[in-house]
Order: sequence, then C-alpha cells, then structure tokens
Amino acid sequence: MDKILVTSALTYANGKLHIGHIAGSYLNADVFVRYQKLLKNDVIYIGGSDDYGTPISLKAEEEGVTPQSIVDKFNKSMRADLAGLNIRLDNFSGTSHQNHIKDSQDFFTNLNEAGYIKKRSLQQFYDASKNRFLSDRLVEGICPFCKADGARGDQCDECGKLIDAMELIDPKSKLSAETPIIKETTHWYLDLPKFENELKDWLETKTYWKDNVRNFILSWLNEGLQERAITRDLDWGVPIPLENTDGKVLYVWFDAPIGYLSSTKEFFQKIDKPEKWKDYWLDKNTKMVHFLGKDNIPFHTIIWPAMLSKQKENFVLPHNVPANEYLTLEGQKMSTSRDWTVWVEDYLQDFEGEYLRFVLAANAPETRDSDFNWKDFQLKINNDLNNVLGNLANRNFMFAKKYFDGNISRKNELSPNAKNTLTEVNDLASEIGKCYANYEVRKATKLFIDIARIGNKYFNETQPWKEIKTDSAKAEETLFICSEILRIISIVASPVIPKSMDKLRKMLGLNEEFFWQNLAKNQHNFIIDEVERLYRKIDDNEIEKQINLLEKKKR
Ligand code: MF3
Ligand code: ZN
Repeated sequence: MDKILVTSALTYANGKLHIGHIAGSYLNADVFVRYQKLLKNDVIYIGGSDDYGTPISLKAEEEGVTPQSIVDKFNKSMRADLAGLNIRLDNFSGTSHQNHIKDSQDFFTNLNEAGYIKKRSLQQFYDASKNRFLSDRLVEGICPFCKADGARGDQCDECGKLIDAMELIDPKSKLSAETPIIKETTHWYLDLPKFENELKDWLETKTYWKDNVRNFILSWLNEGLQERAITRDLDWGVPIPLENTDGKVLYVWFDAPIGYLSSTKEFFQKIDKPEKWKDYWLDKNTKMVHFLGKDNIPFHTIIWPAMLSKQKENFVLPHNVPANEYLTLEGQKMSTSRDWTVWVEDYLQDFEGEYLRFVLAANAPETRDSDFNWKDFQLKINNDLNNVLGNLANRNFMFAKKYFDGNISRKNELSPNAKNTLTEVNDLASEIGKCYANYEVRKATKLFIDIARIGNKYFNETQPWKEIKTDSAKAEETLFICSEILRIISIVASPVIPKSMDKLRKMLGLNEEFFWQNLAKNQHNFIIDEVERLYRKIDDNEIEKQINLLEKKKR
C-alpha cells in the first residue's frame, strides 16, 4: 500500500475561488486522491488559504477592517465552493491559524542556525505618498529578461522568470502609479546558491516528472541561483523569531508552503491523533505530491525542498509536482482585476458542480494552456455527458424495465461479439487507470466517454428492439453487456464525476462500496432500481446568459 500526501496550492485569501484555481490545483488533486482511494492506498489531501502578504493587508486598510476578518471570510467562501464542486480535502486550513506561526518560525530558526540565512542591508522601493515599503508585487515595470510590459517585481508572467524588483525597467508603484523612491532597510536572505549542487543532484533523480516542470527548473538552475529575501516590512505576517526585529515578518512565500505541514498537524489534532502527522511527513516512504499552477513551480521545486532539507526533523521532499499550465477564458487570459473569470459561487447558482468538473477535466491544461468557453461547456455536457453517457444508461435501463422488469442476468456462454466488446472495454479501463496514476485526467476523461461510445455502438448494432421479438435471450445479453459497461464506467469515471456515478451505481442496483479491483469482478446479474436521468441538456439561452454576464461585468 502506498502512503501519499496530496496538496493543492494554498489559495490567497484575498478573493473567492474561480475556475482558474479549480483547473490549476484543485480538480486535478481531487481526482488523483479519489483514484488513490479506489486503489485502497493510504492518502490524505491537505490544503487551505494563504492568509498573509501585502494584498490582504492593503485590502483590510482600504475597507477599514482587520486582515483577519477578510481572511476568515474568504476561507469560509472557499470551503463552500469546494464543497459545491465535491472537492473533498481532509483539511482546509489557513496560514493565519494558530499552529502555523510556530512551525514557520521553527523553519526560519533551523535554517538560520544551520547557516543558510544571511542578514543584509539593502535599498528597497518605498512609496513616499503612501508611507509604505513596496513589496515586490506592488512594483510593476518592464521585465529585464523578456522586456514584456507589466512584469511584477517578483516574477514575470510572460516568461515565468523570477525577478529582483530593483532590476525592473521603469518601475512604478501599483499603489499610486508614481515612481517609487529607494530607501534603506534590513532583510534576511535564504542562501540559495549554497543549495545549488544538492538541488541539482536531487532534481536529476526526478526523471519521471512532467516535461513542462522539468524543463522549467533545469533552465532555471542552469542560470544559477540567487539569494532571496525571505522577510518583509509589513504588519501582517509571521513575525520573525529574532530579537529587535519589530515590524518585520516572514515573506509570504516563505511561510506559505509550511502551511501544508501546519494544516496536516491541524487535521490530526482535530481527529485526536496529534502525533500522526509524523507518519506522513517524517516517513521517507511517503509520496508527497503538490498540485499547483505553473507560476508556483520554482517555489515548490527549488525553495521549498531547500527549506525542508535543512530542518532538524527529517522531512520528506516532494515526490512529484504535476504543475498545470493556465486556463484561458473565451480565448483570453483570465484576470481577476478585470473580472474576466467565472467565480465558482456564481457558477453554482446556475449549474451542477459535476458539470464543471467534467468540462474542466476534459479540458485540463496539463501540457499546454487550454480554454474554457461556454459554447464548449454546452457542447460537452449535451453531447458527451448527455447524448453519449446519459443516453447509454437511459436506453439500456428503459429497455430492461420494459421487457425484463429490471432483472438482467448473465448467460453462461457469451457470444463472441459480446466477449470482444467487453475485452475492448476492459482494456480501455486499465488504460484509464494508468492515466490517473500519471496525472492525465484529460485523457482519462476522453477514454471513459469512449467506453460509453462503444456501449452505444454495440447497442445500435445488436438492435435489441428487434432481438426481443425473435430471441429474448439475445436481447438480454445485449442489456447485460451494456449494464456491465455502465458498471465499469461507474468505477473508472468516478474520480472525475463522482456524484453522477454514485447515482448510476444505485440505478444498477450496486450498493456496496467499490474499489478499482472490482473492475475485473464480473457481475452476474443486475436488478435495475428506480431510473432517473443522469444529466440534463443545457439550452442556448442558458449559455447566452453566461456570456452576457461575462461581458457585462468585465472591467
Ligand atoms: N498563494 C499562492 C498562489 O496562489 C500559492 C501558494 S502555494 C503554497 O499563487 F504552497 F506555497 F502555499
Ligand atoms: Zn519576462
């Protein structure tokens, strides 16, 4: 049995969840976790909100409330949205929760005592009109590497490189649009160059990582690592654990990944097993898998492993970091500041969570950016879910009810055509397993719809509506095979569309808990329970409404 610790990138608590978050780091994780549970592996799924940092502190100031109240509000809304999408974390914490401060301070202290942190005086951007040091994210300018406009002081979204804010060309404060002045301050730096060889050796062993992730880091490493400031002048964050450092906190990117650890501890405290986090974090057999969007790659593959490796305790290092690319919306880059996104909360007002899971899985941005658009959403629900999968269930069940009173059993000898069809389906089913294990949700989703297509084709070709008149045993065989195909789909599709697959199993009269191993366990009879439609069609006007809403709210 494998022991697996799965995480979704902690989401900044300065806003609600939108489809970009779901496609980037939540749905893929949830699907993976559900698959691992089907394999009976020991898996826990950990996440939470990323509560500190300048944007939240600014928002609080603007609204005249405490940062904590903002963070609590969004943490709560994230939980509700995840529940609405049936994304089930074992613990959804927040980095402003109590455990987290001590864990983060310990990380700093251990790195410092081991000689991996350096104190430096430096020049920093300061917005004189706002009396504030400007965090990297609050400075914008031209990227020194690719010369793209609108690069932030921490990272360029265009070329993905991490930037030293001082190197930005023509910097401007995002708070006032003025050119910031430069002021002296003191900060603590993580001595990344000192980790370079160790990290290179470690990353060499990660030959099984996704190409997009590997290429990204290797090119990064080849350019050489720089020291990185891990403290900030700010009043909202984890105070640094040193004397006389009032007003200095840990940089949010330093404390955030430690949230995976503090959230795990919180989880086991809640279920009264306060020591059990060690089973995962301190056992080198644990496979720690971080799901995230590509902008988070460097932090999880370089800085985070470096931090983990110099603690007093022997922490596991990430096993895999299956980062996703970006999701675009109606062909354009998503942007929360322009409100060019679909908020999960809004989506759930109008549609089932299951439908979004299906469409985002079918379009997962695994190897390149992919697009979410409403027309395609309608098409996928109406065609793939409704006309292919839903229809196979519906026609099969209707027929079984009408002619066999819902009782369908297997004959001893199957006809060659029936056997071949099942073999074909079983082959696809095992391929789907490989896809899930390999973070290929997109392909898995395509394949389980292909299985339903095979079922429909088989139904069309055997023509049970004719068979029933001449040879009812033949018609029953057809229904048996289609039911068996539906049973297999109800297992292999359940990581992506768990709710409707539960419904399907119920209709098939299957009530017991099921596992991946059950795939091969041929059923001998089905007692079709009460039948209801699995999916509904989405009308043109529902889609028009969504497109209009998008255009209307766009800034
Ligand atoms: N909050 C960050 C973002 O949304 C991700 C933090 S991931 C963590 O980009 F692991 F570091 F928490
Ligand atoms: Zn750039």
